[in-house]
Amino acid sequence: MLPTSSPAPPPRRRHSIVCYVILVILTLIFIAAVGFLITWLVTKPKKLHYNLENASVQKFNFTDDNHMSGTFKFTIRLNNLNHRISVYYNSVEIFVKFKDQTVAFDTVEPFHQPGMNVTQIDDTLVAQSVTVSKSDARDLRAQTSLGKIDLEVYVNAKVRFKVGIWKSSHRTAKIECSHVTVSLSQSYKSTNSSCDADI
Ligand SMILES: *[C@@H]1O[C@H](CO)[C@@H](O)[C@H](O)[C@H]1NC(C)=O
Ligand SMILES: *[C@@H]1O[C@H](CO)[C@@H](O)[C@H](O)[C@H]1NC(C)=O
Ligand SMILES: *[C@@H]1O[C@H](CO)[C@@H](O)[C@H](O)[C@H]1NC(C)=O
Ligand SMILES: *[C@@H]1O[C@H](CO)[C@@H](O)[C@H](O)[C@H]1NC(C)=O
Repeated sequence: MLPTSSPAPPPRRRHSIVCYVILVILTLIFIAAVGFLITWLVTKPKKLHYNLENASVQKFNFTDDNHMSGTFKFTIRLNNLNHRISVYYNSVEIFVKFKDQTVAFDTVEPFHQPGMNVTQIDDTLVAQSVTVSKSDARDLRAQTSLGKIDLEVYVNAKVRFKVGIWKSSHRTAKIECSHVTVSLSQSYKSTNSSCDADI
């Protein structure tokens, strides 16, 4: 019998390796997607809630040449209703604005908020002889003659979420508490105003 010659490599082999690699990649993508979905379902993220309470102003002074001074106090309540998601707040900046004009500014030390937690930020911001633009000054004078000021409080923060050992990248949180009315008479406490958050 004649020795059989060794067979030539099957022409389809190269092709099948490419198929195999594609299959592995697709499987990995599928596993990652299922993992993400399960994490999402297990943690069921709930929106973070913010509200602002007990806003007041002391030592308010608005001079004839449109310079405003005053000490603003309020409490921001941060409510994390998630069981398994905790939040890192880094570089927290707080602005008090009167009609788009910043009159006082403060920063808060970074902190970590665990799940199912309410954290309060008690803040005191000082406006020191801030020049108020002419058109805003007219509105401010009208409001102070009625014994109150309608302000806005903005919070800009860099946040990261933590689920188990996974930490998200930094996101910017913009929290806006509008129509915060402070009274120029001491006895009055502001109402509880909820804030809009864009994270
Ligand atoms: C607001 O003031 C009231 C009355 O003084 C107090 O009971 C309440 O705890 C304050 N709220 C916050 C968030 O500090
Ligand atoms: C308001 O500020 C002006 C200018 O600094 C000062 O002359 C005046 O006494 C202040 N008024 C009050 C009530 O503090
Ligand atoms: C919320 O978390 C902070 C920081 O860990 C903690 O100091 C505070 O007591 C917690 N508050 C509640 C109501 O659990
Ligand atoms: C303020 O409103 C928030 C959300 O509506 C609520 O959870 C909180 O208890 C309220 N605080 C007071 C002092 O009424």
